[in-house]
Amino acid sequence: MLKIKQTIAQKITEQIVAQFSGAEIETATIASMLEYPPDASMGDLALPCFKLSRSLRRSPVQIAGALAESVKDVSVSRVENVNGYLNFYLNKEYLGETLLRGIVRAGESYGSQTLGEGKTVVLDYSSPNVAKPFHIGHLGTTVIGHALKKLHEFVGYKCVGINYLGDWGTQFGKMIVAYRKWGVREDVEAGGVDKLVELYVKFHNEAEANPALNDEARAEFHKLEEGDEENIALWKWFIEVSLVEYKKTYDLLGIEFDSYKGESFYTDKMPAQVQKLRDKGLLKIDDGASIVDLEEYGMPPCLILKRDGSTLYPTRDIAAAVYRKETYDFDKAIYVTSAAQCLHFAQWFKVVEMMGYEWAPALVHVPYGTVSINGEKLATRTGNVILLKDLFAMAIEKVGEIMEQKNPDLKGRRDIAESVGVGAIVFYYLSNNRMKDINFVMEDALSFEGNTGPYVQYTYARACSVLAKTGEPNKTQPMKLTAPEEEALIKTLARFPEKVLEAVRDYEPSIIARYILDVAAAFNRFYHECKIVSAEDEAIRNTRTMLTLAVKTVLGNAFGLICLKKEEKI
Ligand code: ARG
Repeated sequence: MLKIKQTIAQKITEQIVAQFSGAEIETATIASMLEYPPDASMGDLALPCFKLSRSLRRSPVQIAGALAESVKDVSVSRVENVNGYLNFYLNKEYLGETLLRGIVRAGESYGSQTLGEGKTVVLDYSSPNVAKPFHIGHLGTTVIGHALKKLHEFVGYKCVGINYLGDWGTQFGKMIVAYRKWGVREDVEAGGVDKLVELYVKFHNEAEANPALNDEARAEFHKLEEGDEENIALWKWFIEVSLVEYKKTYDLLGIEFDSYKGESFYTDKMPAQVQKLRDKGLLKIDDGASIVDLEEYGMPPCLILKRDGSTLYPTRDIAAAVYRKETYDFDKAIYVTSAAQCLHFAQWFKVVEMMGYEWAPALVHVPYGTVSINGEKLATRTGNVILLKDLFAMAIEKVGEIMEQKNPDLKGRRDIAESVGVGAIVFYYLSNNRMKDINFVMEDALSFEGNTGPYVQYTYARACSVLAKTGEPNKTQPMKLTAPEEEALIKTLARFPEKVLEAVRDYEPSIIARYILDVAAAFNRFYHECKIVSAEDEAIRNTRTMLTLAVKTVLGNAFGLICLKKEEKI
């Protein structure tokens, strides 16, 4: 629909310029005014003319009247003036021969665009803290981050996905103490990250009764900073063990990172930035600590160095951003974290700007809301958290049970249950606006009915099974559209490229998830109302096969953008 919007906007603009003397209006402005009417009886595209009323000094009805007579295009069957709205109706020829055929012809590239060509985006996401649990609080950064990467790639950007592992900090002092006191190598080797977390939790519990443990931990971390060999070896091992675990979760989701440079990597890159801050006169000493005053910008100060001279979270982020700019020369650097970190990002983004880095406006923070499960919030520290891998395991198991009842003879059921179970969680999560706080109701997420992941994956499989019966359509035969459900479906499919652009513009994968629901609904309506395999008329059958293939194409491409796997049989 992007093209036809453009064409119609251009014709409208030409007529306005011709008919209303002195009118100054851009095609792009008109294109942005064109709306999709809520109901097909009101046309396929509409121009609300009251928006032009002031600048053209005519009533909306007069404007719509004048334009209804004069705007013409081969793709438009009629134009109506209804209460100051100019309503356009697309003709069948255009729907079938241009839109539908265009989707099938474009195939896997349908929806992709060139907006970002020659530009690079760096995305910082997932980034769990080593030896701490990888819990459902990380679901957002992981799947939103990955979806944003896919979306940016789809519109032409070169993307670099970075897992900024929390692989440095005082928690390693605690881990080293805990491991030496209570850990057993074989147990950690066998139990993986769970064992590490257990030790970490034990440390916190013990330290409550015995605060001296905290001093020990500080001392061990200090030794680690000084390069103590034994501590370095332990630290590396903790990271290794954790990564094995994270990668299992990433595999389930089909996620790969281009870089795992974590916090530790930037240790030697901070002094230069601290020096630069000092040289620019931006550092102030406050109670012994070094800060950048942000009062002028309505924010609390950004902490750069603690009283003892050690660096802080913002310091590292500044050094990392400079390094990434130098390494990747990004046009945009996206950070996906929970909304709890909004202030942190606003502060250090401002500091980067104050330092005179002209690329400061390229830094983008993408926040998201909180997650709870069946109404329960998570408490970290205490160990009472729901791990991401357990969440997925539970979903996979439940979906497996449902499928066993539904389709007991299905081959490869385990793998399919895996992708449907994981998909259920991802879809449930991503179908909400990212800023919304989400409460997972597992039963709802896993249901095969309703607006769920299983439902949309099942719809994709349905399209595949229809195509398995019809075989490939004849792609050169003229299209024959006979039912309103066919037209409605084409119009829905035709909006994919615009949805992709909107999702990129708003950093909002939920736009794609909800669009997938629109496509599924339109396809299921078509499927119930129109015979496909058994249609008697050959041209009708072929057209419907083309439509089914277009649905498979669009759903498949959209799934790829939000971590949903394509299963041909469920
Ligand atoms: N490791 C941090 C956490 O789990 C998130 C890091 C986000 N990225 C960044 N560049 N600060 O809270």
